[in-house]
Amino acid sequence: MTRELKTATVFTGIAELVTNDAVLDGADHCEHLGRLSDAAVVVQDGRIAWVGPASQAPPADELQDVGGRAVIPGFVDSHSHLVFAGDRSQEFAARMTGARYDGGGIATSVDATRAASDDQLRALVAARVAEMRAQGTTTVEIKSGYGLSVQDEARSLRIAAEFTSETTFLGAHVVPPEFADRRSEYVDLVVGEMLSACAPYARWIDVFCEPHSAHAFTEEEARVVLSAGQDAGLGLRVHGNQLGHGPGVRLAVELGAASVDHCTFLTADDVEHLAAASDTTVATLLPGVEFSTRSPYPDARRLLDAGASIALASDCNPGTCYSSSIPFVLALAVREMRLTPAEALLAATVGSAKSLRRNDIGVIRVGNRADLTVLDAPSYLHLFYRAGVPIACALSPGGRHGR
Ligand code: NIG
Ligand code: FE
Repeated sequence: MTRELKTATVFTGIAELVTNDAVLDGADHCEHLGRLSDAAVVVQDGRIAWVGPASQAPPADELQDVGGRAVIPGFVDSHSHLVFAGDRSQEFAARMTGARYDGGGIATSVDATRAASDDQLRALVAARVAEMRAQGTTTVEIKSGYGLSVQDEARSLRIAAEFTSETTFLGAHVVPPEFADRRSEYVDLVVGEMLSACAPYARWIDVFCEPHSAHAFTEEEARVVLSAGQDAGLGLRVHGNQLGHGPGVRLAVELGAASVDHCTFLTADDVEHLAAASDTTVATLLPGVEFSTRSPYPDARRLLDAGASIALASDCNPGTCYSSSIPFVLALAVREMRLTPAEALLAATVGSAKSLRRNDIGVIRVGNRADLTVLDAPSYLHLFYRAGVPIACALSPGGRHGR
């Protein structure tokens, strides 16, 4: 999502630089943020070339003064479903007056997505990615899952791949209505022809493993899907434990998935599994979903205190959370889930990068991608302090900063 640079640009006027770099000389390492005051960053060819005090910045071809603002690592949104058409705002309204979410509405988005042209879908994804960038997100993972036919899943991923390298095949989102009485035939299709058509465009495979939804997949079905994806060379992600206690977390840990997402309902055993697997499997929390479905928030404190790795992401999708805003997610994580501002910011940068098995993003460090987000404020704390105010924006070298 970052434009490549041919010349070196030095960014100065950075009142506070949050690097997340645990070993940066001269930084304040309180709460693991690696903070520098009055800092400068040199960017060349889309990579960080230098980080340090502004007084020691080397010369560069261009200079951009961000005017006393804070700069942080760009947000890594490691869970989204941006390839969809149609509108389900009525479903949201019904939930706000008591209706329960069970995944049944996904079929509405499938109908609208199948009916859209490639160009319409591409324009919808482009607008959503631009909306994310305008709110500070510099990496986004995008899932398929509203095509649910060989052709429609493959084109969803082909379009997603035009915007990100973090693409996820989610043919096992729900059993589409035309297969309602033939579940096992649908699983065969997903792991057969559909996987073959989609794997060339996907880095990951995901499954909605949820015994509390009649539309989603059982533990055994999910195991079949994930194993086939693994055999096809895809990394594993799981939608698990969203609507109630269930096997998703255990299965994700057992199979070495990079991420298990939602984690809203966890037993003590689940928490222990996630803590023991903290190097491998990240618990990705999506509090925008709890907000938009009137559900209890996941117990982030319990996970962190047990030693699990956590990430925060938007889950931007037409059903459970049509918000593309990581700042909104951060505000919920602090206010409703009792994370500190530093813990929340780390979860939406380093934590989500880890869930994508990436170490070239999430930390502002020499050699990493130059994915910087500027805040129209002097300190990262304003992200939380000024909740709802659009102060975060991805920094485009050569382009605008702030708003
Ligand atoms: O992550 N839970 C499954 N999938 C999405 C919601 C999909 C939808 O309702 O459109 C989620 O919450
Ligand atoms: Fe999701």
